[in-house]
Amino acid sequence: MPDAPPALPPAFLDALRAALGPRGLLTDPADIAPHLSDWRGLYRGRSPCVLRPSGTAELAEAVRLCAAAGVALVPQGGNTSMVGGATPDEGGAQLVLSLARMNRIRDLDPVDMTMTAEAGVVLKAAQEAAAEAGCLFPLSLGAEGTATIGGVLSTNAGGNTTVRYGNARELMLGLEVVLPDGRVWNGLRRLRKDNTGYALRHLFVGAEGTLGVIAAAVLRLFPRPRETEVAFCAVADEDAALALFRRFRDRDEGAVRAFEYMSGTGVEFALRHIEGCTLPLAARAGHYALVDLASSRPDAGLRALLEAVLEEALAAGEVLDAAIAESEAQRSALWRIREEHPEAQRREGASVKNDVSVPVSKVPEMIRRCSDTLRALIPGSRPVPFGHIGDGNIHMNLQQPEGMDPVAFLARSHDIMEAVNAVVRDLGGSFSAEHGVGRLKTDMMEGWRGGAELDLMRRIKAAVDPAGLMNPGKVLP
Ligand code: FAD
Ligand code: MLT
Ligand code: ZN
Repeated sequence: MPDAPPALPPAFLDALRAALGPRGLLTDPADIAPHLSDWRGLYRGRSPCVLRPSGTAELAEAVRLCAAAGVALVPQGGNTSMVGGATPDEGGAQLVLSLARMNRIRDLDPVDMTMTAEAGVVLKAAQEAAAEAGCLFPLSLGAEGTATIGGVLSTNAGGNTTVRYGNARELMLGLEVVLPDGRVWNGLRRLRKDNTGYALRHLFVGAEGTLGVIAAAVLRLFPRPRETEVAFCAVADEDAALALFRRFRDRDEGAVRAFEYMSGTGVEFALRHIEGCTLPLAARAGHYALVDLASSRPDAGLRALLEAVLEEALAAGEVLDAAIAESEAQRSALWRIREEHPEAQRREGASVKNDVSVPVSKVPEMIRRCSDTLRALIPGSRPVPFGHIGDGNIHMNLQQPEGMDPVAFLARSHDIMEAVNAVVRDLGGSFSAEHGVGRLKTDMMEGWRGGAELDLMRRIKAAVDPAGLMNPGKVLP
């Protein structure tokens, strides 16, 4: 158990309590504890309290009080960050700012096709609200039952449907932001076209809480799908997975809602650890692809498209076997094998994540080269590449060798990430495709983004947050 953090001046605590009300300030260590560590268990910070505003006015007042007192804030949504972005440091002086109570959907307009949601709305709740109105909010990721709108925008999350609808950034039209000095910027415009100077809203998307606090957002909605088809395919190898993606894309790009790659190892872990997960095919394979087609047209003919493309791919030797879902329950069961990969990896033991991207054409080479390099680096280690192949974003994760001490394995994290990054750099890729930089990857910024790019980022940070009180120690080295 870490030591108690240094106490805050009583007058400052009183002012926070007065601004936020009794439910808006947590000071009991038992209540604070869940906010101090991250989903992966990489960090355990300290903080004397958690601020929980219930609306923008309370949020702004809390930020203003902290700015006046020179106290740093760590915004936190669902706390599902994969890079320790929402965890305070060990010093004990940073306060956690939880947006969980700001969870109202303020407006939903099926003509404008927009939803105005507060930062703490859970992603799944946003999806459900859209569905109730006969629309679709398409952002979808494994953590959607916990991750929040503020979190997905602050990390510019990707997930399973980026291939069709883009990252979180593309799904946002306007923002309400509390600036580091406590002022509120109301940019909740729901316009499709608005060329009036710098697009400030895009500064805060992907800023991981280092420039201000997202209080609410106008999100784009889409027509709800009326036809969907999902198939789980065993494929010959990584090239075959990509070839299958291209077949679907070439035939009807608009129909591909998601296209995911999985290795035999990752599927094996899901079958082993996740209750109710079963292989829908007769035999195990080394590689799999999950195809998800969707159309808002009721007569889109997606089943015929799916069967025709799978037949061609079977004849070409790319697909070895395939299962097509016949019901909503089967669609979820097939998706579960993919979505439970992070949890299955967690249960299998220690793993190191490499959320990398390369040009789509380079994905098969990247997977093969990284896998070979990693096996040579740590004999017995098990590469678990999976993810969003249609976006060129593969989770090039590495599982510890069976029987190895997890602590000893994790001590090699830096070497593992460096080995993957060397291949990714050679192929013109990025060291963080969708999870962000957070605390985990700040030391990579100089090498990858150094020079004019990082200089510009630092100038922006200094201009917007001159006192450096917004999520210090994250993103910028
Ligand atoms: P948090 O973890 O609470 O915070 C993330 C960052 O945003 C932090 O830097 C925090 O300070 C900042 N922040 C949070 N709220 C605000 C706000 N209102 N204003 C300003 N800053 C804020 N990510 C993907 O992109 N694609 C995936 O497919 C994916 N799959 C996942 C699967 C699992 C099982 C898990 C656990 C995570 C996955 N993630 C994925 C990572 C994670 O879910 C995303 O990064 C998500 O966007 C984080 O949302 P959150 O609300 O939990 O944010
Ligand atoms: C996912 O797509 O499931 C996550 O982003 C990947 C991971 O946990 O490494
Ligand atoms: Zn992912």
